[in-house]
Amino acid sequence: MLQKWDVLIIGAGASGLMCAQRAAKRGRRVVVVDHGQEVGKKIRISGGGRCNFTHLQAQPKYYLGNDPLFCRFALRAFRPEDFMALLKKYGVHTQEKSPGQMFCAQSSRQIVDVLLEECRQGGVVFQMGTMVQRVQKKAGAFIVQTSQGEWQGNALVVATGGRSWPKIGATGLGYALAEQFGVRVVPQRPALVPLTCDAQTLHFIKPLIGIALPAQARSEQGCFNDGLLFTHRGLSGPVILQISSYWREGEKITLNLAPQIEIYSALKNAKNNLPRHLVGSALSQWLPKRLAQAIVEQIGVGSRLAETSDKTLRQVANAVNHWQMTPSGTEGYRTAEVTLGGVDTQDLFPKNMQCKQVPGLYFIGESVDITGQLGGFNLQWAWSSGYVAGQSV
Ligand code: FDA
Repeated sequence: MLQKWDVLIIGAGASGLMCAQRAAKRGRRVVVVDHGQEVGKKIRISGGGRCNFTHLQAQPKYYLGNDPLFCRFALRAFRPEDFMALLKKYGVHTQEKSPGQMFCAQSSRQIVDVLLEECRQGGVVFQMGTMVQRVQKKAGAFIVQTSQGEWQGNALVVATGGRSWPKIGATGLGYALAEQFGVRVVPQRPALVPLTCDAQTLHFIKPLIGIALPAQARSEQGCFNDGLLFTHRGLSGPVILQISSYWREGEKITLNLAPQIEIYSALKNAKNNLPRHLVGSALSQWLPKRLAQAIVEQIGVGSRLAETSDKTLRQVANAVNHWQMTPSGTEGYRTAEVTLGGVDTQDLFPKNMQCKQVPGLYFIGESVDITGQLGGFNLQWAWSSGYVAGQSV
């Protein structure tokens, strides 16, 4: 039997929950359909279980996409402070880990609970474990055929997220629906993702697996300072996740493994003051010992500082301060935190996320071509875009 609703939302993730509670608080009858069994699964696993739920500086310059300024309206309409106020209302304790990066002091579950309670108060109905089979628009309304029945809605909100982490339910449904309705879609790629290395670089990295250190990563498009981690497949850690969103196949990245120290000057000083020290032990004053050792071995410098030419010291310094490498690829959607690309913002109204050509059809959250840097920007985009759509449906 066809059930009639004001608002159908596909996707019970961050943006879908925000949109649902907002629309329901405005008196709309809302049903949320999701093929998973649990709501807000990504929220639960985010931030290592503590959910980095926002960044206090959220503004377009921290977002990527063909038109990052598109997100300005929604970010102003529902600000990080507004989400903080919602959490405060429920007594959820928060923690600012690094400047602007807000986490739950206890558990990311609390965020899901807050959103679910807001939805419950508005009478939102959840239809979990439901496969979407077909979506049509007939006589101005949307009909969604599913494995559990058929629903009709005056508005359809697509909140199906990106392609990352398919093992917890990510699919490309949002992009397929956009295409079905003639809405343009920007090609997608994994972002905030570890980078992989070729066999030669992996050989160098092998003894370094597990080492983490502060580093700078630079590409043609961006530059970040944060932690770097050597892994079995290549490079990870926040600095690599950040640069991965800007990196493209075949491009070099430049890594500075000691961003606070000009290694050439430091080695020259050491050569004057400690001429009998081996280059490797001098280097291990500023780098983890295993890394210092791997660098001198790779260059083939087993000598004492006094016996090492300035040219060779320059070579060692460059390997630390200007390590240029070309990643072979990324670890892909399996481990990417987000998806770049998505529904083209040219086809959406920034004030409410509605499609310009299809009245009543909305796309929100990660399905849209707006992707944040690491640090809480992606969830803030989910809250803000979900909110403005919820105000409009
Ligand atoms: P989201 O992915 O939350 O929800 C989409 C929903 O749609 C899911 O419930 C899914 O089951 C459903 N769905 C998909 N396909 C469907 C289909 N075919 N039929 C029915 N339902 C379907 N961001 C941040 O700001 N701070 C952080 O700390 C983190 N940490 C983090 C860790 C990890 C491991 C990941 C993978 C990601 C993050 N993120 C993050 C990113 C953040 O979680 C993400 O950007 C938001 O959850 C996106 O919200 P959406 O509502 O758009 O999609």
